[in-house]
Amino acid sequence: MQDKIMLGENIYWVGKIDDRDVPFHRLTLTKGTTYNSYLLKTGLPTVIDTVDISFGREFVENLKELIPLEDIKYIVINHTEPDHSGGLGSLAAKAKNAIIVCTEPAVEELKEMYKLHNREFLVVKDGDRLDIGGKNLRFIETPYLHTEETMITYCEEDKILFPCDIFSTHVANYEYFNDLAKEDIIEDFKVYYKLIMHPHRKYVQDMINKIKDIEIDIIAPSHGYILRSNVKEFINMYDVMSRNTVKDKKAVIIYSTMTGNTKKVGNIIKDNLEMNSIAVEVIDVNKASGEEALRAVKEADGVFFGTSTRYADMIGGLEDLLKELKNIDLKDKIGGVFGSYGWSGEAIEVVQDYLRETDIKLLNTADIIKSTGMTDVMFPIRIRFSPKGDALKQIERASVYTAELLLNGM
Ligand SMILES: Cc1cc2nc3c(=O)[nH]c(=O)nc-3n(C[C@H](O)[C@H](O)[C@H](O)COP(=O)(O)O)c2cc1C
Ligand SMILES: [Fe+2]
Ligand SMILES: [Fe+2]
Repeated sequence: MQDKIMLGENIYWVGKIDDRDVPFHRLTLTKGTTYNSYLLKTGLPTVIDTVDISFGREFVENLKELIPLEDIKYIVINHTEPDHSGGLGSLAAKAKNAIIVCTEPAVEELKEMYKLHNREFLVVKDGDRLDIGGKNLRFIETPYLHTEETMITYCEEDKILFPCDIFSTHVANYEYFNDLAKEDIIEDFKVYYKLIMHPHRKYVQDMINKIKDIEIDIIAPSHGYILRSNVKEFINMYDVMSRNTVKDKKAVIIYSTMTGNTKKVGNIIKDNLEMNSIAVEVIDVNKASGEEALRAVKEADGVFFGTSTRYADMIGGLEDLLKELKNIDLKDKIGGVFGSYGWSGEAIEVVQDYLRETDIKLLNTADIIKSTGMTDVMFPIRIRFSPKGDALKQIERASVYTAELLLNGM
């Protein structure tokens, strides 16, 4: 095992540095990442979060060098995603006396994922405290940062915040602490925020309100650098970035599908728009009423229309909606067309014909090349059968382009 990395008295970093190209939320983390786990070797020894599921056994072997595993009294799980809870299965099997500490919504997920139906859980709520023998932990619920069950753990004596994914960076670093970093980490810190936290920015503000009166000397997140210098500045960056909602823009994705392929395309567009700060509504035109679809179009700044092709034509109720559009004012809106098809995809072109009859600003490859020189942003988004491989990249590029256009009017 590497040298002992310590954050305070009896507080050890026991994580894993992952310097591969790490696949993550359909992206690749080219700088790798770390999974930070912490051991508080107190009277009632406590582990806070674990590592990615692929390193569970290695994690437990390393931990064994610092403490007999049966001595561990508590395992705190701040967030259930397997890049942090992934070592819980291996650890709980060896740390037979440990009680698992988490929020109410996390219990079921952990029981199911790691077959822990017979284990003792301690469910904690916002503000609860836990004496771990010489130190006291306090728990702060932070729902939707970035999933429902998340919480922050705070060590009162050492003034260390363990916020799991919050305040993280995706960088495989061997310096551990931000004051020792060989490069400026601010850009990585902001990129991480934008990808993971910004779509939930309302909750970022809630979280900041909860921690604003707490004394914090160190922020020990679950990815990347442990922040022990300029701590306030990092919190301030989250505050500023999450307040910046002046340019709130909305998109609606309206689709019609036979077997779900076009719906998949729509959902990928949605994810990408949301990652880029656009609020998104998705409507299956065959399930919603005509009025509902029309209302959504009127309220949106950007509208995506999707259909697959059946016998050279579009399907379902989309055409009824398209016929209505001539009569409404769309001149300040951006429109894009997408669809899954098998061999010819005529429906996508028919939808475009309808939109050309309106005053919507219809996105198309030719105009994008002419105005930007970019050749990899393709509209309409034509996807053969189920979206995979290069098609995912194509959908992403088109979505990111649209998001930028909506926010900044490129
Ligand atoms: C009855 C039927 C007719 C189809 N006709 C066409 C067609 O004329 N042109 C084409 O490109 N694809 C055609 N396809 C292929 C579909 O467009 C393709 O399977 C698409 O992925 C379905 O997407 P969806 O799941 O969103 O409905 C047809 C498929 C079916 C089942
Ligand atoms: Fe996560
Ligand atoms: Fe994570």
